[in-house]
Amino acid sequence: MARDKVTVTVIKADVGSVVGHSRPHPSMMDVSREILAEKQKRGVINDFYVTRVGDDINLFMTHYRGEGDKEVHQAAWDCFQAATKIAKSMKLYAAGQDILTDAFSGNVKGAGPGSAEMTFEERGSEPLLFFLADKTEPSSFSGPLSRVFLDPFTTTGLVVDARAKQGFDVEIHDVLKSERVVMSSPEETLSMLSLLGDTSRYAIKRVTSRAGIGPACVLSTDKLNLTAGKYIGKDDPVCICRCQSGLPSVGEYTQPFLNTTWLAAGWMRGSHYGAFYPCSPEESDPTYYDGPPRICCLGFQLNDGMLQGLEPAGSAGGKHEPVDFFKGDTFAEARARAIRASRFMRSQGPFVPSILPAEEMEYTSRPEVLKSLVSRFEKIPGSGSAKGAPACEKDVE
Ligand code: F6R
Ligand code: MG
Ligand code: MG
Repeated sequence: MARDKVTVTVIKADVGSVVGHSRPHPSMMDVSREILAEKQKRGVINDFYVTRVGDDINLFMTHYRGEGDKEVHQAAWDCFQAATKIAKSMKLYAAGQDILTDAFSGNVKGAGPGSAEMTFEERGSEPLLFFLADKTEPSSFSGPLSRVFLDPFTTTGLVVDARAKQGFDVEIHDVLKSERVVMSSPEETLSMLSLLGDTSRYAIKRVTSRAGIGPACVLSTDKLNLTAGKYIGKDDPVCICRCQSGLPSVGEYTQPFLNTTWLAAGWMRGSHYGAFYPCSPEESDPTYYDGPPRICCLGFQLNDGMLQGLEPAGSAGGKHEPVDFFKGDTFAEARARAIRASRFMRSQGPFVPSILPAEEMEYTSRPEVLKSLVSRFEKIPGSGSAKGAPACEKDVE
């Protein structure tokens, strides 16, 4: 019997952690598992998996209710409320940080947590990858995903797989104008890169097959969509990917994280460039200068809406465990390079490009400094623009 389209939803939030911004307490993860097991029993969701990257709890959920479903979002909201309660009772750091409202209004969008959702007809075999990142922003995926979907020297499948060769539609968000545009590869590849290279303004939201296979990947961009024109901080992103048979293969998705040491904006105080550090969730504590930005990659097969992994974990919920792609030796060299690159960036101290450009800094003292200097700034003798405002005056509100 043909089933409805399945929806894969990931909702994530930082609601407090043990020792600064490091990791949620295990009991916060356990309570989330208990709540989702109950929701599964009640038929709200088909299956779930609870994990974390750094200080962010990530809830994977599968169901047949479509995207933005109230009950599914409520399930995540309940987890984060319960985890926040635990975090507060333990006086954990930043308890409840990503819970921006007291009352749930039917959807986590705008309420603090991040979400990525994808709906499609489950194929005969449906391999899924979940990329989870901490201490960075959604546009940090633009480089790796451009390699995967736009670069035939990276993804040979774009040349030799007849369906991948038909290209992909890429939905790009303009963060400043809160607008989106869909552009198509391969025809518009260079124009796309001309936008995506500016990671402070443009981010990939979604990629769709042009061979009729449906969605290939989707990212959480919730805070980006809220901010329109005003920078309010980083939004540790998650990316759900469908793989194989006309879409990039599992290995084509993971390859760019070994071949390239990617610089990602975020890291300490959301105000630095550090190198993406590919690792297991177990290794994702931000141990060096609150980072560097961590990226994990977990894989499940979808099996009639269930997350098929390896042997049951035996913990609350008893769910299968995913394949952990960045764990182990293969990516050890990439990790070593990431630390080297991050140390190099740190060697530049509080100077760009170690720190972000002023308008992207999550923390800055510059407006106050400039304000305190207003009466002391004076024209440079002999400079031409007598009527011109000081270049930095816009920083003084
Ligand atoms: C970055 C992050 C941390 C904090 C830093 C300062 O996303 O969460 O690097 O920004 O530890 O935190 P506060 O201001 O809370 O002391
Ligand atoms: Mg945090
Ligand atoms: Mg985080």
